[in-house]
Amino acid sequence: MYQRGGGGGQHHGNGSGNCLIVFFFFFFSLFLFLISLPGSESATFTFVNDCGYTVWPGILSNAGTPQPSTTGFILLPGQSAAVSVPPSWSGRMWGRTSCMQNATTGLFSCLTGDCGASTVECSGAGAIPPATLVEFTLNGADGLDFYDVSLVDGYNLPLLVVPRGGTSGNCSVTGCAADLNASCPKELQVEGNGKHVACKSACDAFRDAQYCCSGSFSTPSSCKPSKYSEFFKSACPKAYSYAYDDGTSTFTCSSANYVITFCPSPSGSTRVAGDYPAEAAAVTWPGNAYTMPQASGAGSDGGRPPVAAYVAAAVVLAVGIGAA
Ligand SMILES: *[C@@H]1O[C@H](CO)[C@@H](O)[C@H](O)[C@H]1NC(C)=O
Ligand SMILES: *[C@@H]1O[C@H](CO)[C@@H](O)[C@H](O)[C@H]1NC(C)=O
Ligand SMILES: *[C@@H]1O[C@H](CO)[C@@H](O)[C@H](O)[C@H]1NC(C)=O
Repeated sequence: MYQRGGGGGQHHGNGSGNCLIVFFFFFFSLFLFLISLPGSESATFTFVNDCGYTVWPGILSNAGTPQPSTTGFILLPGQSAAVSVPPSWSGRMWGRTSCMQNATTGLFSCLTGDCGASTVECSGAGAIPPATLVEFTLNGADGLDFYDVSLVDGYNLPLLVVPRGGTSGNCSVTGCAADLNASCPKELQVEGNGKHVACKSACDAFRDAQYCCSGSFSTPSSCKPSKYSEFFKSACPKAYSYAYDDGTSTFTCSSANYVITFCPSPSGSTRVAGDYPAEAAAVTWPGNAYTMPQASGAGSDGGRPPVAAYVAAAVVLAVGIGAA
């Protein structure tokens, strides 16, 4: 595009300013039109660490979707970081805790949520259970984003997903804001550094088909909630507690960006409700009202860029200049 404009300038000499501008806007409009086709807008995930400790987010793309620019990074307490993902991305993210690099071997590992890559970047490796997972399929059926928070692989830290600027779908806030380390049933508890650091799923703890929804329990009608899945469900009603928990755990939204907050603080926090959907600000978690965190650096509605509006403006401008 640039070379072509330059070449045109050389051939037509100094009097071709308008012509160049028309060409520029034509190609610019075409470019914007192409990137605005359904399913082609990229989304931004903003990770916020409201934990009193460092979290190392991990990101894993599903097979067939490209990896984002980073698959793992450090997030200090109070820090936030934005990661853009390609259009129609699908995959999962989670938080790793108590990570360190071994001084002798140089290998990086985490007490919970480790991906086994031995580096801060997970590079295609997923979380080793137990870990609280955020799952996304962007621009799926009907152009909707599908998302959920899952405790099917257990729990390691509280987190919340807040869509911003969505235009259709239920666009609900979802997640698991409770600290389940302490209340976790004894037989599911994971200890590290002398503390309860995570809570296993019953499937992981007992390797039983009945809990894993496998073998003769591999259908929604044969795999029922257990007392363990009910423990997760009562603490975190919007999160997946077992494999067939779809009805109350999957949410949709379109053209949104998403804020993923680790350790969302209960009401009384210094952060205030911003321009989140009214429903988000009003959401009440078991035991305490939750005040939405304020994400840094997002636009007024927080949705994906209104590309169509830019196209219209560019076309009008190009036509106007052409006519002049
Ligand atoms: C570092 O790795 C070595 C070799 O695997 C191991 O013996 C040692 O305990 C590790 N150090 C720490 C602090 O975990
Ligand atoms: C839960 O685990 C995190 C780190 O994984 C820890 O900081 C926190 O204190 C634990 N909570 C309880 C109640 O032990
Ligand atoms: C959200 O909307 C989708 C359809 O757009 C629906 O399948 C799903 O059940 C809804 N989830 C909830 C919890 O309302």
